[in-house]
Amino acid sequence: MTDHQPFALEAWSARQLSAVEQSLKCWVAHPEPRPAPAGLGDAMRYAVLDGGKRLRPLLVMAACDAVDGSAAAAMRVACAVELIHAYSLVHDDMPCMDNDVLRRGKPTVHVKFGEAQALLAGDALQALAFELLTPEDGSIDAARQAALCRMLAQAAGYQGMAGGQAIDLASVGKALSSEQLHDMHRLKTGALLQASVLMGAACGAPSATAKNALRDYGAAVGLAFQVVDDILDVTADSATLGKTAGKDEAQDKPTFVSLMGLKASRNYAQELLSQAHHSLKESGLKNTAALSALADMLVNRST
Ligand code: IPE
Ligand code: IPE
Ligand code: MG
Ligand code: MG
Ligand code: MG
Repeated sequence: MTDHQPFALEAWSARQLSAVEQSLKCWVAHPEPRPAPAGLGDAMRYAVLDGGKRLRPLLVMAACDAVDGSAAAAMRVACAVELIHAYSLVHDDMPCMDNDVLRRGKPTVHVKFGEAQALLAGDALQALAFELLTPEDGSIDAARQAALCRMLAQAAGYQGMAGGQAIDLASVGKALSSEQLHDMHRLKTGALLQASVLMGAACGAPSATAKNALRDYGAAVGLAFQVVDDILDVTADSATLGKTAGKDEAQDKPTFVSLMGLKASRNYAQELLSQAHHSLKESGLKNTAALSALADMLVNRST
C-alpha cells in the first residue's frame, strides 16, 4: 500500500491497541506472580491502564511495519515508551510541577494515592520500561537491546523529556524567544515521540536514508504534537480533554499560543504536518501508510 491509497487507520489502530493493552495489563505490576509491595502496583496500574490515546505505541508499531521489523520486539518497545510517558505524566501532574487534579478523565495519581506513592509509581514505571527492553527470552538480541535502551534513556533524560520539563518549570512567567520555545517543546515532548518512531524502526534494519527520513518525520510530528497540545489547552474543554483545560494561561506558561496566537499556531502545526509527509516520501520506504495517517490524526486531533 502506498501513501496515496486510503488507509483504514481506525481498524489498524484498534488491532494494534488491543494487543498493546493486553501486554500492558500483563507486564505492569501484574498481581500474579510478583505483586508489587505496599500498594505500589495499584498506583502503577492506575497510572498506565484504562486511558490515554496511546499515540506513542501506535508510532512504534507503524514505524516497525514500515521497515518490516520484528513485531515481538516492537510490542516491548511500544509498552516501554508508553511506560516512560505515563511516568512523565504522573510526575508532571504533581503539586511541585503542574499541580493538576485530573488526568485521562480520572483523579491524578497523587490525588488518589498520595504524593509519595505517585513519586514511587513514576520511578517504578521508568525502571520497568528498561526491564521490558531487556528480555531474557531471546526475542530481542543483545546489541539491539543495548541500542534501544540507549535511545530511550536519551529521549527520557536530561537531553530529552526531563531536560524539557526543567526548562518548562524555569520558564513560568517568562516570554521565551521562538528558538527557546522550540527547544523546550522538542525536548519535553518531541524527543519521546521521535524516539517512538526511531525505536520502532530499530526493530528492523532500515537503510541510512530511511533512518534519516524517519528522524525528520519524528521531529516534525513530535513538535507538532506539543503545538497542538498548547492549542487544545486553549480551545477544548476539560471534559473533552480528560485533563484541566486552560492551565497554561492560568499558570503563565509560555506556549506556542502565547507566542504566536491561535491562528499562526494552527498554521504552524499544518506546516509541520507537511514536513512530516515530505520526510516519509523521502524515506524510500513503501509501507508508510500508517505513519502518514497517524501524522494526520495527531495534528488534526481534538483531544
Ligand atoms: C499529554 O500527552 C502530555 C504531553 C506530552 C503533551 P498525550 O496527549 O499523548 O496524553 P495521553 O497519553 O493521551 O493521556
Ligand atoms: C507535559 O507537557 C509534557 C510531559 C513531559 C509530561 P504539559 O504539562 O503541557 O502536558 P499536559 O498538558 O499536562 O498533558
Ligand atoms: Mg507540564
Ligand atoms: Mg501538565
Ligand atoms: Mg499541555
